[in-house]
Amino acid sequence: MSDVGKIGSTAFVIAAIRANEPNQAVRLFNDPYARWFASEPAVAATKALDAAFPPATTMVRFRTRFFNEYVERGIENGARQVVLLGGGFDMRAHILADESVIFFEVDQALVVDFKRSVLGAHGLEQPPSVPHNYLEVDLPAELAGVGLELDAPTLVVWEGNTMYLPVGEVMPFLGRLASALPRMSIAFDYMAADLQNRDRLEEADVRRLEGVEAAMRASFPTGFPDLSVFEEHTLLRVAESGHFFRLGHRYGLGDMVDDYPEDWRETLKLYGYCVLTST
Ligand SMILES: C[S@@+](CC[C@H](N)C(=O)[O-])C[C@H]1O[C@@H](n2cnc3c(N)ncnc32)[C@H](O)[C@@H]1O
Repeated sequence: MSDVGKIGSTAFVIAAIRANEPNQAVRLFNDPYARWFASEPAVAATKALDAAFPPATTMVRFRTRFFNEYVERGIENGARQVVLLGGGFDMRAHILADESVIFFEVDQALVVDFKRSVLGAHGLEQPPSVPHNYLEVDLPAELAGVGLELDAPTLVVWEGNTMYLPVGEVMPFLGRLASALPRMSIAFDYMAADLQNRDRLEEADVRRLEGVEAAMRASFPTGFPDLSVFEEHTLLRVAESGHFFRLGHRYGLGDMVDDYPEDWRETLKLYGYCVLTST
């Protein structure tokens, strides 16, 4: 596996899940570009995910739809800037392109460079990007450097990131971001448990969680049992939150989710979404 494969391997796996959408009975979104990033090991990882916990890839499909709607709704409500934070191979800049909206991307340099080369080979341009570890740079300054207007209404998509971050880094990072972007809305997915103290979780939950980590070849050190910490530590307020599996009815897959065994539904309470907005 290449360096890019090692560093951004989780992004390949998510792309492989999206690339499979045309084969689904009920299609939740359209991402015609995902197949460019669906490497063989990534496709194998999606199968390992489903073996570890069958609803796992379905929840990634739900989340893709959720974040699409978040961006579409935000643009309808006047946002003209969208930041894909830890964007991996997110192609929303092209899929949801709107003349009046600028998309920005942030990811590690190897991921951004790889994506840029794949897009270039297909005659597409990489959006303005910050190719850095966002925890280690002055992200608002870097974004401003590629054209972001810090004072303008901005949507931030922080999808598939929080669980991978070092414990203790999320609040200071978000605090800095919220101070510099006074009209920000940020949406993210998260694990709704203290993942440093897994002995407090049900055994089945831990087994499934560790199975998902093994399939992703990454660990999840960070979770949030209580979203009020965001309001305590940042200038942001919780505008929306919930569990992905409960979106099944909205997305036309309610019967499937209703048929999940009760203990799967309990485990699925560990995976949530949250939208924070500036006060
Ligand atoms: C699971 S992937 C999700 C990618 C994309 N948001 C999606 O849902 O398709 C996580 C991505 O976040 C990036 N990432 C995680 N932590 C990061 C950090 N501190 N700085 C820059 N990128 C980061 C990884 O490189 C990877 O591309």
